[in-house]
Amino acid sequence: MADLAPRCLRVLTEAQLEQLADVLVDCVEGGASVSFMAPLTQERALEFWREVAVGVAAGERALLVVEDEQGICGTVQLMLSQPENQPHRADLAKMLVHRRTRRRGLAAELVRAAERTAREHGKTLLVLDAVTGGDGARLYERMGWVRVGSIPGYALFPHGGSCSTTYYYRELGAD
Ligand SMILES: CC(C)(COP(=O)(O)OP(=O)(O)OC[C@H]1O[C@@H](n2cnc3c(N)ncnc32)[C@H](O)[C@@H]1OP(=O)(O)O)[C@@H](O)C(=O)NCCC(=O)NCCS
Repeated sequence: MADLAPRCLRVLTEAQLEQLADVLVDCVEGGASVSFMAPLTQERALEFWREVAVGVAAGERALLVVEDEQGICGTVQLMLSQPENQPHRADLAKMLVHRRTRRRGLAAELVRAAERTAREHGKTLLVLDAVTGGDGARLYERMGWVRVGSIPGYALFPHGGSCSTTYYYRELGAD
């Protein structure tokens, strides 16, 4: 069981931006295919999170984090802003847990918290993609997300080599 509860951040401090950048750099170093190639500099990672912060402040995305004694150690985002004919949908993205706190159930807690947050925003359908057969894909399948299908050769791993991605969705009913 995770001993750390996720919370939603609306305004990010410099310290929080640095901690989020640390988490992203650690995940990329660890081989996660999450948009960036290795080596990812702290500066580039910070640039990414500053853009995220703008979207969070604008209410276009929700940012959830979990923290340990060293600061933010896990995060996930909900892309709330969608085309006008899909107001009921959000995308789940950038699920990242620092290697120092993996395998303690934090990602599972983040998924549950993101699903609660999505409901609070009136969302009834969530969509995401994950590296086929990866740690993330296993997590979502364990948590009841429905596998749609895979696209071969979709992206690169940060240290090279291509990976396929698998799409998932989850309907948020009354459960
Ligand atoms: C994917 C990722 C977010 C999972 O984070 P996590 O916090 O380790 O996830 P959880 O702890 O909820 O689950 C991971 C494993 O630990 C196990 N676990 C959970 N709590 C546990 C506990 N208390 N004791 C032992 N094992 C535990 C889970 O059953 C799961 O096992 P599995 O890998 O055999 O399926 C993390 O590996 C990560 O950040 N990877 C890099 C980025 C990435 O790939 N993100 C996904 C993008 S889609």
